[in-house]
Amino acid sequence: MNKPNNITQNDWNLLTEKYKVIHKIEKKLNKNYPVQYLIGNVDFYGYSILVNKNVLIPRFETETLIEKTISYIKKYKLEKSNVLELGTGSGCISIVLKKEIPSLNIEALEISSKALKVAKKNAVINKVTINFIKKDLFKFKPKNKYDILISNPPYVKYDDIVSENIKYEPKKAIYASDNGLKYYKFILPYYKKFMNKKSILAFEIGYKDGEILKKLAVKEFIKSKVIIEKDLSGKDRYLFIINE
Ligand SMILES: C[S@@+](CC[C@H](N)C(=O)[O-])C[C@H]1O[C@@H](n2cnc3c(N)ncnc32)[C@H](O)[C@@H]1O
Repeated sequence: MNKPNNITQNDWNLLTEKYKVIHKIEKKLNKNYPVQYLIGNVDFYGYSILVNKNVLIPRFETETLIEKTISYIKKYKLEKSNVLELGTGSGCISIVLKKEIPSLNIEALEISSKALKVAKKNAVINKVTINFIKKDLFKFKPKNKYDILISNPPYVKYDDIVSENIKYEPKKAIYASDNGLKYYKFILPYYKKFMNKKSILAFEIGYKDGEILKKLAVKEFIKSKVIIEKDLSGKDRYLFIINE
């Protein structure tokens, strides 16, 4: 492009710089790069959550997980609970829980230090205190017992057909071996030991896994209420285990 005569060299330089930036963004969008990463934040449950390529972009389904968990917390009067979140990513679940029920005491585990950096920033922006712990959930040895465990673990099967833009999100946040069940198969028997007698376990799950996970949960939690609930599109999406 040639510089028109009616513009100063300085303005022309600024314009061409801006054009280059816009062109770069356009190229990324054409390759299905998530617009949320370009903007740098999302609105989640009415709160602003920073996102970058190191964290999963919070999903609508996860807002419903939180909504349902909050109503169980209120129903069973567990507002003054110790909560453990496994795989916090951007911190969205723990941050919303703390905003909505400030009397909760929350620990949130995450294996990725880059993700934890984002989660900590989000806690500051949203003015909440959460105890973030950098730890592999397969190796964590809790010192306390918990009243609530919540997790949206990786659950996509390696051979699932997924949308094009998922390829830009961290693989560790999305895929799980053992047909997508690896995390649940570990979490249910292991973390059972660290739950108080009266407690709630809340999970987001793959929409095809309701039946198999219900069986697994019933086997581990013989005396508990095991409930599979649906997302807004009518698909199995949540597993709740209620120990009354
Ligand atoms: C599906 S994402 C959920 C992120 C966020 N909680 C949400 O709902 O948007 C799963 C998260 O678990 C973390 N993760 C995966 N394996 C883990 C492990 N072994 N220990 C701790 N965190 C893990 C990933 O890094 C990722 O941030």
